[in-house]
Amino acid sequence: MEKPKAVITGVGAYYPEYILTNEELSHMVDTTDEWIMTRVGIRERRILREPGKGSAFLGGKAVEDLLRKTGTRPEEIDLLICCTVTPDMHFPANGNFIAEMAGINNAFNFDLNAGCSGFVYGLITAAQFVENGHYKKVVLVGAEKMSAITDYTDRTTCPLFGDAAAAVLLEPSHEGVGMIDHIARSDGFGGKYLHMKAGGSLKPPSFETVAAREHFIYQEGKVVFKNAVSNMADVSVEIMQRNNLTADDVAWLVPHQANMRIITATGERMGLPASKVMVNIQRYGNTTSATIPLCLYEWEKQLKKGDNLILAAFGAGFTWGAIYLKWGYNTEI
Ligand code: UT7
Repeated sequence: MEKPKAVITGVGAYYPEYILTNEELSHMVDTTDEWIMTRVGIRERRILREPGKGSAFLGGKAVEDLLRKTGTRPEEIDLLICCTVTPDMHFPANGNFIAEMAGINNAFNFDLNAGCSGFVYGLITAAQFVENGHYKKVVLVGAEKMSAITDYTDRTTCPLFGDAAAAVLLEPSHEGVGMIDHIARSDGFGGKYLHMKAGGSLKPPSFETVAAREHFIYQEGKVVFKNAVSNMADVSVEIMQRNNLTADDVAWLVPHQANMRIITATGERMGLPASKVMVNIQRYGNTTSATIPLCLYEWEKQLKKGDNLILAAFGAGFTWGAIYLKWGYNTEI
């Protein structure tokens, strides 16, 4: 029998209640709603404020939602992959905490860190385990508490990020739907432009690193922007071309949500009208590994079985990639 394709069979999500608006940010740093809206396109973002809760809490809630929505029992899950740059702890892996919260106590699990390309890298990875026939039910969750590593005295980064988690279930299919093709790339030259300077083995935490504010996101925005625009658009166009897809064939672009201008540029290079591009950056900001599944979650009811979707992302590393998949189900409304 032909090898199965890995298909998404459900989506779950969770985001915290607290809404940090541009208006509130403008009292914290020298910024304005107008600057943030024009340069980035974000109006508000969610922040997890309850003490004692990290990204695993968000991820656990998203996975619980996914299991509930898909009617899946925790013991049916073979593998859970958590994509994150903000794990609760350096070790054990965040997936352990998430799995425990969701009652998944006997599964293979690991974390994957590809910055903002986390979900795209994760989906490509997760699909291999399904396509090779080893696993029947795989959970892929993007879980981020970006507020934990955001410097709220730095106006160049603090408006950008938000907290959220979203998860998908992957299963084998012989119906021609699911993952069709992918492109994944990286270039380590980008590491110096987007990273967190301290807290790792290179520069362990110390009074000095805390005083120098080195436990926060460091980003040289312009270099990242330039590389994000060209690379995200290049792989999105390349994956269309090599699968003979015209703009008419593509139902949706599901782009990583870092900057509205990057999203628009990618959609335009692909020849897509704005109506085919999923955008919710204005309400959540950049939630790193959670942006793409959060879009799928919000658009789920509009997606039809067989729809051609292109997922595309760019992030720290640099890492970037695109996925061509056929959506696997219709949602009863
Ligand atoms: O998802 C992971 C990958 N990350 C990304 O894709 C992010 C890519 N980068 C970007 O999205 C953009 O570079 C930013 C949104 C981060 C910055 O936008 P920009 O258009 O590249 O602005 P800039 O850094 O060139 O700054 C332009 C001006 C500067 O002032 P001067 O030097 O021209 O006087 C900044 O100081 O805007 C100033 N500025 C601000 N002004 C008001 C920077 N941040 C702010 C702010 N409010 N929050």
